[in-house]
Amino acid sequence: MPPWPTSHRTGLSTPSCVPDGRRLRAGAEACRTRRCRRFRGFLPLWTFRGRGACHHPGTGRRRGRLGRTAHSVKSRPVGRRPPIARRWGAPGAFAAACLRHGTSIKTRRSSMKIGILGVGHIGKTLTQRLGATGHDVKVANSRGPETIGADVLASGGRAVTVAEAVADVDVLILSIPLNRLPEIAPLLADVPADTVVVDTSNYYPLRDSRIEAIDAGQVESLWVTELLGRPIAKAWNAIGSHSFAAKAKPAGSADRIAIPVAADSGRDRRLAMALVEDTGFDAFDAGTLADSWRQQPGAPSYCTDLTREEMPGALAAAEAERLPKRRDVAVAAIQERVGDGSTNPDAEYLVRLNRALFM
Ligand SMILES: NC(=O)c1ccc[n+]([C@@H]2O[C@H](COP(=O)([O-])OP(=O)(O)OC[C@H]3O[C@@H](n4cnc5c(N)ncnc54)[C@H](OP(=O)(O)O)[C@@H]3O)[C@@H](O)[C@H]2O)c1
Repeated sequence: MPPWPTSHRTGLSTPSCVPDGRRLRAGAEACRTRRCRRFRGFLPLWTFRGRGACHHPGTGRRRGRLGRTAHSVKSRPVGRRPPIARRWGAPGAFAAACLRHGTSIKTRRSSMKIGILGVGHIGKTLTQRLGATGHDVKVANSRGPETIGADVLASGGRAVTVAEAVADVDVLILSIPLNRLPEIAPLLADVPADTVVVDTSNYYPLRDSRIEAIDAGQVESLWVTELLGRPIAKAWNAIGSHSFAAKAKPAGSADRIAIPVAADSGRDRRLAMALVEDTGFDAFDAGTLADSWRQQPGAPSYCTDLTREEMPGALAAAEAERLPKRRDVAVAAIQERVGDGSTNPDAEYLVRLNRALFM
């Protein structure tokens, strides 16, 4: 007879199985044993240290495949939901699960294969954040992998050629200037239809040259879908590069900045939103691409560092005919400030300027 009680009804690896004397989630019941995966059986609670690490003889505290403690058995007080990353297991798991199972996924935990084109102001931070959250990230610029700095790859991203970056990925993120998209459009013809393409681009005539259709009122993301001949999700276009690099926060933090995400396919939008969350920002569902003009340059939601609560009002307040004029006034002010057409102003100046002009 083992010296500990062996009866249990809940399954010992569930979070509801907590030591006596702790508060339990509704429906849970106390249990004096837990499952040790290595031992493949149930052990008394005294074999578990701290929050559930097993020190059953022959097993050390081990990291799980995605960074979770293999023997971890977590408990938490009644009535408090854990942040999203913990609800879905390891960082990146939520996005991976969305991709594989739509909304019905529950427990799948794995990283995604992500290709990123562009390692500039936005692509660099994307590479670092998504690499750090456990995704398998490949990244390319136009000049070749040897020109990509070690700082970009510090979180695990790999520098590859453009052709390699678009091959065999679950998600392809385009973070290159809008006027360079025609160069990569032919490559996308070979990318499978179920690969989700997320685009971060914005139209700036000064940089991109005049594009007649957009000047005439075509929504930028719809111009991109026509050019690429496939659907896209639009994300990370409405956050300034300095805010993106410096203002990420864990889910649930006060004043976490929200980023609008638009797509015609619910699956693509959910996936892009999950990746936005993985980069440290609240993802806000901004609807279809036809509505995405509301997050273009000149709009109240554009690079103004709003929260999830402020975002609906900002999107609703956008006035289509005023956006181009406001965008160009902002560009003129930035040029006067920083003296050239390519340096980004610091986050505080850009946010102050955009709030004054766009809201
Ligand atoms: N900067 C911002 O604050 C901000 C914010 C939100 C969205 N965006 C938008 O996001 C996009 C990227 O902006 P950014 O500021 O990150 O641009 P950026 O700093 O100018 O960087 C552009 C990157 O794209 C690469 N690239 C250009 N053509 C390419 C091609 N044909 N194939 C592969 N890589 C190519 C460049 O590589 P090479 O240097 O080797 O050419 C470079 O790494 C733009 O559409 C921009 O409007 C920018």
